[in-house]
Amino acid sequence: MKFYIETYGCQMNVADSELVAGILVREGWGQARSMDEADVILFNTCTVRQHAEDRVLGRITSEARRKHAKPHLKIGILGCVAQRLGNSLLTDYPMIDLVVGTDQYLQLPRMLSMLDNWGARDSVETNPKQLYFDAHPLRQGRHSGFVTIMRGCDNYCSYCIVPHVRGHERSRITEDILMEVHHAGKGGFKDITLLGQNVNSYSYDGVGFPELLVRVNKVPTIRRVRFITSHPKDLSDVLIGAMAELDKVCEHIHLPMQAGDDTILQRMNRGYTSGHYLGLVEKLRAAAPGIAVTSDIMCGFPGETEEQFQRTFDLMEQIRFDYAYTFKYSPREGTAAADMSDQVPEEVRLERLNRLIDLQSRITTEVYREQIGTVKEVFVEQTSKKSDEELSGRSRDSKIVVFPGHAGRISDFVKVRITEASGWTLRGEALDNE
Ligand code: 5AD
Ligand code: SF4
Repeated sequence: MKFYIETYGCQMNVADSELVAGILVREGWGQARSMDEADVILFNTCTVRQHAEDRVLGRITSEARRKHAKPHLKIGILGCVAQRLGNSLLTDYPMIDLVVGTDQYLQLPRMLSMLDNWGARDSVETNPKQLYFDAHPLRQGRHSGFVTIMRGCDNYCSYCIVPHVRGHERSRITEDILMEVHHAGKGGFKDITLLGQNVNSYSYDGVGFPELLVRVNKVPTIRRVRFITSHPKDLSDVLIGAMAELDKVCEHIHLPMQAGDDTILQRMNRGYTSGHYLGLVEKLRAAAPGIAVTSDIMCGFPGETEEQFQRTFDLMEQIRFDYAYTFKYSPREGTAAADMSDQVPEEVRLERLNRLIDLQSRITTEVYREQIGTVKEVFVEQTSKKSDEELSGRSRDSKIVVFPGHAGRISDFVKVRITEASGWTLRGEALDNE
């Protein structure tokens, strides 16, 4: 029997899908290369915005037609939508055969083998402290690897559904993380990203995040370390110092700003001001010259006036992120912001979003053009999507770099001189053309 997983949403979901694949393969399941080959199709879902949820439920509804040609085919829903909506999915979407929440993946093989009795999430034991310490992810494809260091979130930003679905923050045992990093490196995943909703608050038995980085930096099988996501309220000077000093820690930080207005930041329950945020960016740039700073920005939060929006816009213009993901606020049932009385009309949110997109794409174009003429060390991940004669990889400062070369160099580190910039991609030529 074979399974196929389609993954939506953030890197945490990508890592969870690798974990689920590891759990199933260990139990004797085979991996299907496509949906056509699969006996079970699993959708690992995202609910951070309503649109993400609607999109995946639409996709599940349309893929259900496969059951006509293959009556034994089963469809499962994993991840944050499964966690949020639970068993109601089984009645509202009759094509769904099983619902598995984010803390229940160890039960998945049993649920599949006893589907008629175990399909429902709520009938299965769940462990809100789940850390999957005895399961091993099956990393695939790209040669950059994710290693989860913590699960859940305790921050309760007022717009965010994540703490409601993924539960309380808990950190993995330091030794387990180090072993997993070592193992991933041995498997060729030499560029590692440590994952958590707020990695800066990692804490296990007296080991905080800066100390974890010091230890990961010593793992001999890997060459690069990065981490997502950092929370500005927990980004300490010690961490900035560690980033500057540790040779494997890459010159990139993803630091969601969300908004540039202090009243909005406070109503978002973010725990910092715009001045504090700007100060952090300045410190990071002083400590690690050339560091890429990227961000998440939201517009149309309840009560956001045009002037408050303008402060977000102005701060983005002042900071000049290398790139930023921009979102319009989406009310999520059960969060504090969804109950705020002054919701911003959809057309205003959309119009503001468009202005943010235009601004950031202009800045990204400029920042990327400034890279022309520089030399970057590229970790080669795959042949480029457009041509087998071209390779694609990532620089330490988290930029996609494409250059002519052959597949034999995949998973090598190659020095590339940048000659062109287009969109979010740089192009160049290898300096050591052997
Ligand atoms: N509406 C819009 N964007 C959101 N995000 C989180 N919750 C919401 C929401 N309700 C954004 C934040 C976060 C990113 C992962 O998604 O910017 O950093
Ligand atoms: Fe959501 Fe805030 Fe936690 Fe990030 S830190 S997952 S935005 S609650």
